[in-house]
Amino acid sequence: MGISVSEIITGGSGRCVDRRVYVDPEIYQLERERIFRRTWQYVGHEHQVSEPGAYLSATIAGEPVVICRGEDGRLRGFYNTCSHRGAILTEAERGRCGGRFRCMYHGWTYDLEGRLIGVPHVEAYGASFRREAYHLVPIRVETLAGMIFAALDPVVNSLEEFLGDAAPYLRKYGSNTEVIGRLRYLYSGNWKLWHENFADNYHPEFVHKLVRDMYVGYEAQGTNHQLDPGHGLLIWPAIRPHFERYQAGLQQASGLEIDLSRNANWDFSPFVGQPAQEELVLTLFPNFDFASFYGASIELRVVQPLAVDRTRVDLYVLGRKDDSPEIRRWRLERSASWLASHGKVAADDLEALHRCQKGLTAQVGRQVDINRGHKPGKVGEARDEYSIRSFYAAWRQYMK
Ligand code: FES
Repeated sequence: MGISVSEIITGGSGRCVDRRVYVDPEIYQLERERIFRRTWQYVGHEHQVSEPGAYLSATIAGEPVVICRGEDGRLRGFYNTCSHRGAILTEAERGRCGGRFRCMYHGWTYDLEGRLIGVPHVEAYGASFRREAYHLVPIRVETLAGMIFAALDPVVNSLEEFLGDAAPYLRKYGSNTEVIGRLRYLYSGNWKLWHENFADNYHPEFVHKLVRDMYVGYEAQGTNHQLDPGHGLLIWPAIRPHFERYQAGLQQASGLEIDLSRNANWDFSPFVGQPAQEELVLTLFPNFDFASFYGASIELRVVQPLAVDRTRVDLYVLGRKDDSPEIRRWRLERSASWLASHGKVAADDLEALHRCQKGLTAQVGRQVDINRGHKPGKVGEARDEYSIRSFYAAWRQYMK
């Protein structure tokens, strides 16, 4: 008799993961219901909906939602579906609704608090028609450091409790930021592979030649943290890159004369003289990743599962609100250069994830190993896997 889904979910030592969690469609459906419907999901930044009537739309656990700023200044969220016959109220990712959402199908209209305020030819519904029975269905919305999170489950813990040990880091490094650009890419692999990869500092010296050359020895520095409940942190001192080593490597491989100093986004010169920050990668359960490198590249990523073996990564490039135009341009160019699907670092990672997904379809009875790091407590060296074990501890809790 085969092993049941519940045995897969609860089995293992906490230091290994059953391979079927990456390839089994039944487990994927359970993840949608038990994790994505019950966790806080990043949906945007406050500056994107700063005026009454401004809204943004998103998808959580496959369901459409809309977040809008009310006349009273409050952010509210609703399922993005008309109460009449179900049409989506807006398909735009962002916009201004002019104080009301009007469904395009039969013209039902809702105010910014989700109340049904207009029904064309309402008399046909009879005297017993009650508008309040048709108000939009609300969802939870909270913010931290200007970032907006939404939750479908009305009884989830507060955002602060959900973020737990990760909240101070997100507040410290994410405050005073705004979204200045976006990249999006798809890959043929399970959503957890990306999130794990982001918490993994064991692979860069093998996968990313760029990182190995430019940040010599960095992987042996820093620490890997379990942040309860389910989050992780990689943090290490700011390291100034060795451009000359990477340039020499490129020349050797290509046989071409290369002068990286002529490419402005290779250097951190716009930030020279500013206090260097630690470099950190914050992985928030279940699918939100935040990174700040040298205080120069600030990015967040939302991993959107599309199928058990199909995933979209929405990468948002952040800037500081008081950035000069030159700094802003530098941030955008650098992110496009390094992190687009054709970029240097992202292309390496995506290749690794493709290979993992292919390999994991071999159900050889072995488990995926996340065993690195045996110091007691919640902190190990940067190449350890405290962050990944933290994720799977929460994953098991939600999935049970
Ligand atoms: Fe929206 Fe009919 S579906 S008004």
